[in-house]
Amino acid sequence: MRALPLLALALLTAGCEWVNPMLQQPKVKPYRKSVFYPDQIGMRAPPPGTIPAGAPADPVALSGRSPDGTPVARIPVAVTPELMELGRRRYDVFCAVCHGVLGNGQGPVARNMSIRPPPSLLTSGQRPDGFFYGAITEGYGYMPSYRPWLGDEERWAVVAYVRALQLSQDTRVEQAPPDVRARLEKESR
Ligand code: HEC
Repeated sequence: MRALPLLALALLTAGCEWVNPMLQQPKVKPYRKSVFYPDQIGMRAPPPGTIPAGAPADPVALSGRSPDGTPVARIPVAVTPELMELGRRRYDVFCAVCHGVLGNGQGPVARNMSIRPPPSLLTSGQRPDGFFYGAITEGYGYMPSYRPWLGDEERWAVVAYVRALQLSQDTRVEQAPPDVRARLEKESR
């Protein structure tokens, strides 16, 4: 007979689950089906042409690709000292651990990675700017996409900084602007 009140209590509390509106919320859970849509797929793809809020409206700047699908040759946003500084900060946080602070592929992860060590970014100087933007945006082989962590402007900023790294490691004195050249020549005397 002792068990009876306990049983009643168990039944009562179990009942709460069926009526408690907090547990019965009409919402779509990831990968679950939905009776709301005719195809019953709960997770919806954004309509074609959807542009993320706050993104530049220019589709070339967004995708890094020309209308014919090839990577753009040049960074399509203004490269300012501020953009370069933003790129340096983001690169040091998100890329240097693998590709190295200098971009030479000598990051701490690279030294311990056996499958496919991150390559040097200094040897791909001839590639178009859109190639680097594409690698960051879409991912590249084993490397994941950095789109979830870096905004559109930040990704172009990183491309600008990778370019600066390439120049800093592989430029002849003759290629430097006249004032820099004059200074370097003076310093080397
Ligand atoms: C966890 C390590 C890791 C991080 C962090 C990382 N990468 Fe990579 N990256 C790789 C690996 C590994 C490859 C080669 C992948 C393959 O070939 O399958 C690669 C390839 C690339 C390539 C193509 C290089 C070429 O010449 O083929 C570019 C460009 C690149 N990464 C840029 C970046 C940038 C910019 C960042 C920062 C936003 C970054 N990566 C962050 C590991 C990393």
